Amino acid sequence: MTLPLPALSSPASAQPARIPFFDLAAQTSELIVEIRAALERVIGSQRFILGEEVAAFEREIAAFLGVRHAIGVSSGTDALTIALTALGVGPGDEVVTTPYTFFATTGAILRVGARPVFADIERASFNLDPARVAEVMSERTRAILPVHLFGQAADMTALRALARHHSVALIEDAAQALGATLHGERVGTWGDMGCFSFFPSKNLGAFGDGGLVSTNDDRLAALARSLRNHGFGAKHHSQRLGGNFRLDALQAAILRVKLPHLASFNARRREHAARYLQSASGSLRLPRELEARQHVYHQFVIRSPEREALAARLAARGIATEHYYPTPIHLQKACADLGYRAGAFPEAEAAARESLAVPIFPELEGWMVSTVAEALAAE
Ligand SMILES: Cc1ncc(COP(=O)(O)O)c(C=O)c1O
Repeated sequence: MTLPLPALSSPASAQPARIPFFDLAAQTSELIVEIRAALERVIGSQRFILGEEVAAFEREIAAFLGVRHAIGVSSGTDALTIALTALGVGPGDEVVTTPYTFFATTGAILRVGARPVFADIERASFNLDPARVAEVMSERTRAILPVHLFGQAADMTALRALARHHSVALIEDAAQALGATLHGERVGTWGDMGCFSFFPSKNLGAFGDGGLVSTNDDRLAALARSLRNHGFGAKHHSQRLGGNFRLDALQAAILRVKLPHLASFNARRREHAARYLQSASGSLRLPRELEARQHVYHQFVIRSPEREALAARLAARGIATEHYYPTPIHLQKACADLGYRAGAFPEAEAAARESLAVPIFPELEGWMVSTVAEALAAE
């Protein structure tokens, strides 16, 4: 059986004059033969919902993470919603989280009816500052939800100690950090539950949406499996309110092809980062790999008080950049009811004003990495 997939143009023959911020074409080309075979296997099986393909992916990624249970779900956002629900977070509860992240982290807290309570970030890592978290814990706090932003672990040792001290749940938003470690342990295995995204641009990207929940707890794993599928115990017997939050078998098949390459994808990201760090001029504020961590550089984010001018100079050299994230979460319109004002979280607000991400995806060609490195050196 041959699938009528369009032929991909060779990236070499269509080398762009500019350096894209992100481009999946080269990775897809490298793996297309295996991916086509995997898609044909699923089509041949006619088993598109859950089944062996999803189960096999879950076993394989659980082994990669070093965790007892991995549950494939429909997106990183849905992974967060499932984790919060499985841990019993709902109306009347507070969840302490970061104001400097992608909106989904807070969106999931709001969706389960709980109240997000923000704590400021650490300047050095862009991640939740445990000292600030301690200040906002209350008797209504039900969970702490750190994000391993841009691919580097948050301070899980301190956050886990805080969660245990207050007897609250710890949920990791590891959407950007699959493969990152702290003290040699992968993120997503430190808390009660870990949440991952397979959005195409993530370090492990599907051909569409996908996500994962990880846990070492048998009870929480069973709950997450039930919640992703209408709260079923036995088929058509809903024990609780769940939803359709399943990972597609076709996406699982693609992810199974890519997973064995994840370590090398992450190694390439780290090589590009090392090159940038080595070349960059002293006037730029650069990302730092903190002690005991292995950063997987989902993004390489530099800082400058004159961010727009820096972005313009990079653009003049053909280098595309992105702002992650232009508006901190507490100042988003969707959070207006929470009553936070500008100035509430100075570190998050400064990061939102100053940060600029440069291209770091694994398949950047040598000349592209050199061009970015030279541009950073010229600053
Ligand atoms: C930190 C963070 N959390 C959650 C998500 C949500 O993941 P998804 O897009 O798969 O729903 C993303 C990415 O998109 C993210 O970057």
